[in-house]
Amino acid sequence: MADGPRALLITGPGGSGKSTLARNVADRLGWACLSEDEHWVANGWGSGLRSPEHERIVQDQVARDLLEAIRSGRGVALEFILYQVPPNPLTAYQDVLAANGIASDTVVLKPPVDEILRRMAQRGRPSDADLEGRRPDAEWQIAILEAGGIAPAWVVDPTGLTAEETLARALARLGLTTERLCLEPITTDHAEAMFEVLGAPEIYAYLDESPPDSVDALRERYRVLERRTSPDGTEQWLNWAVRRAEDGHHLGYVQATVRADGWASVAYVLSPGTWGHGYATEAVTALAAWLETAWGVTTLDATVDRRNHRSIALLERLGFAPTGRTPGDDQHYQR
Ligand SMILES: CC(C)(COP(=O)(O)OP(=O)(O)OC[C@H]1O[C@@H](n2cnc3c(N)ncnc32)[C@H](O)[C@@H]1OP(=O)(O)O)[C@@H](O)C(=O)NCCC(=O)NCCS
Repeated sequence: MADGPRALLITGPGGSGKSTLARNVADRLGWACLSEDEHWVANGWGSGLRSPEHERIVQDQVARDLLEAIRSGRGVALEFILYQVPPNPLTAYQDVLAANGIASDTVVLKPPVDEILRRMAQRGRPSDADLEGRRPDAEWQIAILEAGGIAPAWVVDPTGLTAEETLARALARLGLTTERLCLEPITTDHAEAMFEVLGAPEIYAYLDESPPDSVDALRERYRVLERRTSPDGTEQWLNWAVRRAEDGHHLGYVQATVRADGWASVAYVLSPGTWGHGYATEAVTALAAWLETAWGVTTLDATVDRRNHRSIALLERLGFAPTGRTPGDDQHYQR
């Protein structure tokens, strides 16, 4: 899959904050922002008029806009509500993107029903005046999300989060693509393949770590990393599985710890059989660019054992320079 624009599909019940999120993603990344609802309004079809035929027409219109924006070289944040089981139109848009070879990610905002009603009361639109009257619809939309077809890794509960925090949760779920690689946010689903990769002893020559004990132990670790935030909420913990695009083979991982003050530290591990092909250079280049654009990172830091020549060569190739020496074998690099 070539390096290029991708799409973020954002769904959730009315009142869950999807329009705000889509706008914030688009602003942060310089992407286009699309809303399915605008098509319903432009066609003059209210909520009482949603026949399957209307749905098909609207989905075709949205798909056309989506592809047009992507072909013009922009990423797209598209937001819409779900109105059918299986979670349609989510599956419809995912299918259109996949059929056109466009990488996409999905975020499902899923607050509890009471939180939806609280948000509606707060935004105070005239249509939200009869709050209890909106409850059955909110319950129906949550029921669609619970009927299957929604991967747990897509779900964000925005209760108690600011708009900025919700944006961070969404950005942390985005994959990255480069010429030869797909970087996928790590989930428990990666545990089995990554256990194989991480078993190679050569990886640990200069790392203060050992191979995972079992697939289950690694899955548990990934379950924690899936939260993508430190327990105290001050750091983003971002981890991507690095896969080769042409055959899906798992090569290793890249990771970043990001602080709100624009500082991030990066680390990377690839399977020894794949060293020497520039995969690490390609993955860490994409990671660094992403940290700068999406996360506002201005200082990138890496700590490396002074004897780890491969890693030092990689850092120097990417413009990192040593910054003084820590006690022991470690050396900090920055750019
Ligand atoms: C650190 C690590 C990721 C570096 O891997 P790597 O394979 O050396 O790095 P790259 O994938 O960028 O490959 C660079 C090599 O590929 C070559 N190469 C081939 N095609 C290339 C391309 N298209 N682009 C860039 N380099 C290319 C380069 O010339 C270079 O070869 P050289 O080492 O003979 O000069 C790897 O050694 C590793 O996982 N180590 C164990 C874990 C570890 O120590 N991590 C770092 C902790 S700080």
